[in-house]
Amino acid sequence: MAQTWTPNSWRQKPIQQVPDYPDLAALEATEARLAKYPPLVFAGEARRLKSALANVAEGRGFLLQGGDCAESFAEHGADTIRDFFRAFLQMAVVLTFGAQQPVVKVGRIAGQFAKPRSSGIEKQGDVTLPSYRGDIINGIEFTEEARIPNPERQIMAYRQSAATLNLLRAFAMGGYANLDNVHQWMLGFVKDSPQAERYRKLADRISETMDFMKAIGITSENHPSLRETDFFTSHEALLLGYEQALTRVDSTSGDWYATSGHMIWIGDRTRQPDHAHIEYCRGIKNPLGLKCGPSLTADGLLELIDLLNPANEAGRLTLICRFGHDKVAEHLPRLIRAVEREGKKVVWSCDPMHGNTITLNNYKTRPFERILSEVESFFQIHRAEGSHPGGIHIEMTGNDVTECTGGARALSGDDLADRYHTHCDPRLNADQALELAFLLAERMKGGRDEKRMVVNG
Ligand code: TRP
Ligand code: MN
Repeated sequence: MAQTWTPNSWRQKPIQQVPDYPDLAALEATEARLAKYPPLVFAGEARRLKSALANVAEGRGFLLQGGDCAESFAEHGADTIRDFFRAFLQMAVVLTFGAQQPVVKVGRIAGQFAKPRSSGIEKQGDVTLPSYRGDIINGIEFTEEARIPNPERQIMAYRQSAATLNLLRAFAMGGYANLDNVHQWMLGFVKDSPQAERYRKLADRISETMDFMKAIGITSENHPSLRETDFFTSHEALLLGYEQALTRVDSTSGDWYATSGHMIWIGDRTRQPDHAHIEYCRGIKNPLGLKCGPSLTADGLLELIDLLNPANEAGRLTLICRFGHDKVAEHLPRLIRAVEREGKKVVWSCDPMHGNTITLNNYKTRPFERILSEVESFFQIHRAEGSHPGGIHIEMTGNDVTECTGGARALSGDDLADRYHTHCDPRLNADQALELAFLLAERMKGGRDEKRMVVNG
């Protein structure tokens, strides 16, 4: 693609998943307002994330990416953000210990508002209305008025993102992320878990390590890295008018950056190589994610890699694979082989959520066993292919919701009605998310012990 790129060159391309705004003049006016607002993130931060992801691509780190399927205006509040961050950091500690590698922490947060839909319309009884497309576009209530796309919602999403990010920055740098705190929360989780026996082994080893560090004088008072953490934001770059309005030139490098979040990704439904979403994303310098589903061929993937990462820079591109627990073995190996054969540098990440959605008692849900099974297969396949299983991408919340079945508390189909709050897909609750981290950490450690035995024996 030799054509020149500009922040609006995507407008010349075919596009999927666009909302039908009735008042285009109002939309334009809103985008013009947004274009004058301050950036949410800085180019230098996006570069720092890219270099952290480059380490992951080279096998020296692990990516933890997670958060809501869709953020909502209704659930915006300090407690929701704090509880998410708390669960997320606990996962990060457990995975850091399991992998014995730095964990790159990226939230699906502070901008994750727009949702692709399988159908443009939703039917209830004999009423047909436009589908809900996320709070940044229209309202979830099943009324004609709510479902009309309203540009003013972009301003609200921008402001919510700014407030969320502000609190997250304070948490990450202001003492809340202190490793001692996170460790204590984690011990609390283990104590209360029905699987306490199983998780305690790993938890005890983390405790011993912390005690040892303290004994030799490494504390959070004299080592800021023990009380601070790098936390980054990400979302699907679906609503391109909004993204364009927040696309800015970085004064130090002269490059274009999306300043709506540190990392943005392209969905499985909008990755046509000659369409608008790929066009927009190829021109900005942020780290990018690309969702890879069962319909993606090896050649199709290589074509997209060349468009999105022509210079083959490590850290630029993360492949977020979402096949389903029963399809990952069929699809992942051929993609890995093609990428390895061509020497392309990517981060391999596993999204075990989106290929494992079922309907139970009229609720969309995801069985914990299938989520775990897809991640385990992902690890096994990478081990067999000699590539690095670089990360996971999950939908989760810090709250005690009942949206996914299974886990140590064995949530059943009948429990789903209790606290089913998601605006879109079912999320792991805080306990389920941490359990997943413990089970993966066990497995990572098992893998290392195996390697060590081969080396020593
Ligand atoms: N700064 C290190 C890191 O982010 C260690 C650390 C501090 C940490 N607080 C944390 C790790 C909370 C995980 C969770 O990796
Ligand atoms: Mn989702």
